[in-house]
Amino acid sequence: MSEYDIISFENRLMANVFGKRPLVITRGKGALVWDVKGKEYVDCTGSYGVALLGHSHPKVVEAICKQAETLISCHASLYNNKRTEFLQKLMSITPMGLNKAFLSNSGAESVECAIKVARKFTGKPEIIAVMGGYHGKTMGALSATWDKKYRAPFQPLVPEFKHVPPDNLEKLAEAITEKTAAVLLEPIRGEGGIRVPPEDFLPGVRELCDEKNVLLILDEVQTSFGRTGKMFGCDHWCVTPDVMCLAKPFAGGLPIGITVAKEEIMSSFKIGEHSTTFSGSPLVCAAGCAAIDVLVKDKLAERAERIGCYFKGKMEELQAKYNIVKEVRGLGLMLGMEFRYDVRNIILKTMEKGLLVLDAGRNVVRFLPPLVIEKEQIDKAVAVLDKVIGEEEK
Ligand SMILES: Cc1ncc(COP(=O)(O)O)c(C=O)c1O
Repeated sequence: MSEYDIISFENRLMANVFGKRPLVITRGKGALVWDVKGKEYVDCTGSYGVALLGHSHPKVVEAICKQAETLISCHASLYNNKRTEFLQKLMSITPMGLNKAFLSNSGAESVECAIKVARKFTGKPEIIAVMGGYHGKTMGALSATWDKKYRAPFQPLVPEFKHVPPDNLEKLAEAITEKTAAVLLEPIRGEGGIRVPPEDFLPGVRELCDEKNVLLILDEVQTSFGRTGKMFGCDHWCVTPDVMCLAKPFAGGLPIGITVAKEEIMSSFKIGEHSTTFSGSPLVCAAGCAAIDVLVKDKLAERAERIGCYFKGKMEELQAKYNIVKEVRGLGLMLGMEFRYDVRNIILKTMEKGLLVLDAGRNVVRFLPPLVIEKEQIDKAVAVLDKVIGEEEK
């Protein structure tokens, strides 16, 4: 099928809810992808943070092929060996005490489960989230998401959600009431512009939640699996939540959502109170086992820290060189470059020159490359940025 046909069929047949770029990707390997005409791109989108091990990692491909020939689906009302293996591997990397999981299919679903289990366990309705936070677009997750453009058309949302200013312990303390079940936030806000909180914020939130007997839910959908240079974002501040939301890279690129909680919290669900047909499918779990093995064996979190430092350093050189770059932020390979104006044009121009990046709000270019990205590929990305920013600044 021609590039023109692919674009026009997708536009015609698929719900028009994605801000599409005029690019047809047909192949990927590691941190590189190729378009339908064979042009190569350095992929700093990583499929929105999913392709953390790189595209089509051979170990994940092997596991998927092998499992596909054995058993693809098995409802969670029956037991399955791959699901058990995945749960064991998952618990070997999750923070101590978080040892019971619900498996689903996406980040938003992992948040839905966290909201429901917090209400069920505490018997209280209220969830406090953060202005600028992002948790997905299903009705519960959307009620915690801040941005008005996502929320406004779908009112009324789920009741008893409120938002407090970010990184502000005082306002958070004031907001907690007798009705509060949980505080829900991202350790580092991703969609909100790659915002790393001040050193004392997350430990302060943990202390406050303990003091007021409120659950702490951390949405680690974007910050986990080594992305920030540690296994989980919260590891930077030695904070353990009561409930953690995971998704994107955990099944090597296949759809997955995971809500992992303290045993007594997750056990407050009775049979039938929460479920999904695809929970822990053998195919997804086989891919997940391979993904965790690669992450741990290849020490990808450490790699993200090392190579992220290199990338960030290069971005800071660009910041020093160009006035239109306002700030460089982030940890590991979760990086953002804030400009003094809208970045739409910059993103399209980098694409033309063989570099794919994301936005995070109006003024921030976001980088979520696979953790296997090579130094030379980063150099290429930086050379493209240098050229595009140079042209913009003229
Ligand atoms: C922090 C966070 N939570 C939740 C979600 C929603 O995940 P999904 O798009 O898989 O539903 C995202 C997606 O980007 C996210 O970044």
